[in-house]
Amino acid sequence: MHVNDSRETTSALAPKPKVIGIRRLKEPMPTPFKTRVFTVANQKGGVGKTTTAVNIAAALAMGGLKVLVIDLDPQGNACTALGVDREELAGMYEVLVNEQLLSQVVVKVAGFPNLECAPADIELAGAEINMVGFVSRESRLKLALEKFLAEREATGTRLDYVIIDCPPSLGLLTINALTAAEEVLVPIQCEYYSLEGLTLLLKTLQQVQQMLNQKVRISTIVLTMFDSRTRLANDVANNVREHFPNELIDVPIPRAVRISEAPSFNQTVMTYDASSPGAVAYMTVAREIARRGSGEIISQTTNLNDGVNSA
Ligand SMILES: Nc1ncnc2c1ncn2[C@@H]1O[C@H](COP(=O)(O)OP(=O)(O)O)[C@@H](O)[C@H]1O
Ligand SMILES: [Mg+2]
Repeated sequence: MHVNDSRETTSALAPKPKVIGIRRLKEPMPTPFKTRVFTVANQKGGVGKTTTAVNIAAALAMGGLKVLVIDLDPQGNACTALGVDREELAGMYEVLVNEQLLSQVVVKVAGFPNLECAPADIELAGAEINMVGFVSRESRLKLALEKFLAEREATGTRLDYVIIDCPPSLGLLTINALTAAEEVLVPIQCEYYSLEGLTLLLKTLQQVQQMLNQKVRISTIVLTMFDSRTRLANDVANNVREHFPNELIDVPIPRAVRISEAPSFNQTVMTYDASSPGAVAYMTVAREIARRGSGEIISQTTNLNDGVNSA
């Protein structure tokens, strides 16, 4: 992979004073030609979905892009990492079950000019059960998001990225997320069995493609909690590289203490310690995601789809 961002790469080596407050990169990231909606999915828990969702969202926002994180996991870990106090707020339950407008639940994330969050309210745990009786229960999020994005477009405040954080299951919330998105980002932790879960995800994705959303595809794979010293991590990485050469962003996120510390300070690692290796890796991955979405590789998009179907 071509990494053209020397600024972030060198910042890992040279100690830099901490910058407090709103952060923005000198070199902006390219704007996609339309809003890109990503679902971060992997039915395994603890593989780095939430960490990847919030840090990539923060990194894209720091690159000057307008980003919305939708926290669709009842545990609300994305809210925690973004410093959004969900106890007080209406959130995705209200949107999915009571048809509240997404625009009424979206809040700004402190410390970022362009980052917003649709919180996982406390009731979200009951959403799957309460949606069961609804007609088109799988498309509730899609409809809400379409309306919201159209509204934003019309008011000249178009979003560049929407990133949906999913719970660790393939239940109705994740199905809603897969139905609402065109792109799936799969974080893979390089350990035993990490690829077995992928088969199930691919199967579910195929069903969603057939029944609900033809456009959705795995566009992006990120290796998380990577420990280059272990042979296993390298084996898994090689395996993923072989099966998903186009989708894999070949900049593994290292296992890093700063990444795991950040949420307890209600921060992403991008603000908690922007020059730490974990933050630098997420910044590089975000920049590559933005580059791929800048229109340069629209033709490649079609090929990726074929890859998913035959995988
Ligand atoms: N690169 C990393 N290095 C160290 N710890 C990590 C890293 N990525 C995630 N973690 C930690 O691993 C745990 C699980 O990550 P999380 O993103 O919550 O996974 P998921 O959303 O898939 O359940 C969290 O405690 C998180 O802080
Ligand atoms: Mg999570």
